[in-house]
Amino acid sequence: MNISEPKSPPEKAFKAFSFISRSVEETLHLGQHLGEMLEPGMTVALIGPLGAGKTIFVKGLARGLGVKPIVTSPTFVLINEYQGRLLFYHIDAYRLKSAQELLALGADEIFYGHSVAAVEWADHIEEALPREHLSVKFTILGKNNRSILMTPRASRFGSLLQDLAAKITS
Ligand SMILES: Nc1ncnc2c1ncn2[C@@H]1O[C@H](COP(=O)(O)OP(=O)(O)OP(=O)(O)O)[C@@H](O)[C@H]1O
Ligand SMILES: [Mg+2]
Repeated sequence: MNISEPKSPPEKAFKAFSFISRSVEETLHLGQHLGEMLEPGMTVALIGPLGAGKTIFVKGLARGLGVKPIVTSPTFVLINEYQGRLLFYHIDAYRLKSAQELLALGADEIFYGHSVAAVEWADHIEEALPREHLSVKFTILGKNNRSILMTPRASRFGSLLQDLAAKITS
């Protein structure tokens, strides 16, 4: 017996949560469940092609955060701000060419405060994103099917995902 081995192995870190959405409603609900759980200072980074469901998911997040009225795509307004149980920023980086452009718009104040932020096309502004965030990657599988892969980029997002997975599957 190897005496240096711990009696019970340390709890495995939660690596990722993969979800298959079969309708707009399912994507909305997933976002809503997550929105109910988000804590101050959390950033959700959304990645995926045009029409993948990022804005639908953000509508769900807003719903879960208790935001009224309905969230629309901020394609022409780069940053939308909503008041729910927390201040919620919806950023669409599609038209941004660099992280510097977002930083010039005050990204640091958004990301490093007590509000919550969701960023569509987060891969366009990667260097402006906080190192600790929740990555949500969308893949179009078919007309109504989407793969939604959530990966924690910090331990607190790992426990959040664990709770979300339990909530969804219960
Ligand atoms: N399971 C699904 N989840 C989400 N959207 C779906 C699903 N099935 C079909 N759709 C359709 O896909 C589209 C998703 O649009 P949405 O605006 O959310 O995409 P997006 O990723 O934000 O695109 P963009 O990059 O242009 O902002 C909608 O037209 C919606 O009806
Ligand atoms: Mg969108």
